[in-house]
Amino acid sequence: MKRLGVFIGGNGSNLEAILEAIQRQELPMVCVGVISHNDHVQGIQRAKRFGVPVKVVPHASFSTRESFEAELLKETRALKPDVIALAGFMRLLSARFIEQVNVPILNIHPSLLPKYPGLHPHQQALDNHDAFTGATVHLVNEKMDDGHILAQAQVPVLAEDTKESLSQRVLRVEHKLYVEVLKWIAADRV
Ligand code: GAR
Repeated sequence: MKRLGVFIGGNGSNLEAILEAIQRQELPMVCVGVISHNDHVQGIQRAKRFGVPVKVVPHASFSTRESFEAELLKETRALKPDVIALAGFMRLLSARFIEQVNVPILNIHPSLLPKYPGLHPHQQALDNHDAFTGATVHLVNEKMDDGHILAQAQVPVLAEDTKESLSQRVLRVEHKLYVEVLKWIAADRV
């Protein structure tokens, strides 16, 4: 079975959806560890509830991206992952880090990329009166929310939506989409 590492930075709801799918034996992978770039976030507690080992590499305590990535690389290598899933991990990774890790790194983003990369995709979808937004799973490169797209799912934007209601609707779709793509990876279909 493929060894999955998950990098988080916050709430960890995508992480939980992945761990639940593994627990239900719907996703034939083993989650070998979670790395958070923030301390004291909900995602850490969620990982612990599933008995998954967690390391915190707090980006704010490193003075340079190089020193942050050196520590992240050390912790990543210790996990010996076959694949890494970013789930709310809000740091750019350098081309050098991606090359050194040398396993596929996936990311999920709450928009129909290449539309709305970055921090405010829901607000942008609302401001532009889009009828649809969605979620994208893609391979990670050194640019923000960029890289080869593996799968997308559409989500309607409703007239009464706020940023919060829209992000909740998109998140529910993200949880299914991420598990689906990881199932393809598990089956060597990507
Ligand atoms: C998710 O909506 C994810 O798509 C987004 O952060 C949220 C994390 O939620 N990621 C990005 O915006 C990446 N650019 P979670 O911690 O509950 O999984």
